[in-house]
Amino acid sequence: MTTPTVRLLEAQVADAGRFRQALTPAEKARAGRYRQAADRDRSTVSSGLLRQAAGGGVGRFCRRCGKLGDHGQPVPLDGDGRRVAGMSLSAAHSDRAVLVAACSHALVGIDLEALALAKGWSGADREAFDQVALSDHERESLAVLSTECADGARLRAWVRKEAVLKATGLGLAVPPRGLEFSDAAPDAGAAGAVLRSWPAELDPFCSGPVAVVDFAPRAPGYVAAVAVLGASRCAIVPEAVSDPIPLASNPIPLPLEAL
Ligand SMILES: CC(C)(COP(=O)(O)OP(=O)(O)OC[C@H]1O[C@@H](n2cnc3c(N)ncnc32)[C@H](O)[C@@H]1OP(=O)(O)O)[C@@H](O)C(=O)NCCC(=O)NCCS
Repeated sequence: MTTPTVRLLEAQVADAGRFRQALTPAEKARAGRYRQAADRDRSTVSSGLLRQAAGGGVGRFCRRCGKLGDHGQPVPLDGDGRRVAGMSLSAAHSDRAVLVAACSHALVGIDLEALALAKGWSGADREAFDQVALSDHERESLAVLSTECADGARLRAWVRKEAVLKATGLGLAVPPRGLEFSDAAPDAGAAGAVLRSWPAELDPFCSGPVAVVDFAPRAPGYVAAVAVLGASRCAIVPEAVSDPIPLASNPIPLPLEAL
């Protein structure tokens, strides 16, 4: 298989004003479900980046419900509201940064976390995080690290897991502690991490190769990862963010009561 290209779009929550005027009614409604202004801005920027990545309308597909609707993985739509085959999208936001990934002919997932998230953690917070997120082996490997290094390792493990789970479309409905990685050899020329075990429900997605690549977003102070299913490596290509092109309306109306 040729190496898939992942187009990467990055913007700051502070850029929300640039995207707000071009939101469709459905995108406005999506942002409006949040009570905090910062969360509304995050959603606004995410919608703007997704629209650029898709080159048109964006819907949501829930793999659990098996329906195109108002929740789940973002998917590109044609003008009639039908899913565009082939292209996969993923979005992530944390603190002030928003990332969107797009990949043709392979399922992609992306995640990022602000390193500052761990600054306020107590021992009990770390214990609770580890129980949800880490396998026994991963927990043992943290024991030899300083608190700061262990927190960095926790967040790196988390973004890798969430990137894979978003690529599958199942998200955190699958317990993340069931995924484990080993670091790829630095000279392997392959992805940054190798997925070496996963819960059985991920077999349909993860039995072939899975490229998991750590990368540093342009904004300092974050860890991030991209996952591509069915590929052993991928090329991440940053794309300039352009001003949004207004769409008259979203191709499918989102049912507001379900937001
Ligand atoms: C996807 C998920 C991991 C996101 O976690 P988070 O830390 O809150 O948020 P992040 O910033 O990392 O990611 C948010 C993005 O994830 C994407 N997303 C939501 N659900 C998704 C899914 N099932 N698969 C892939 N991506 C998903 C969205 O694009 C969202 O951004 P947007 O609202 O701006 O479009 C989490 O919300 C989740 O697991 N949801 C699915 C749970 C589920 O399946 N429930 C059953 C429903 S019937």
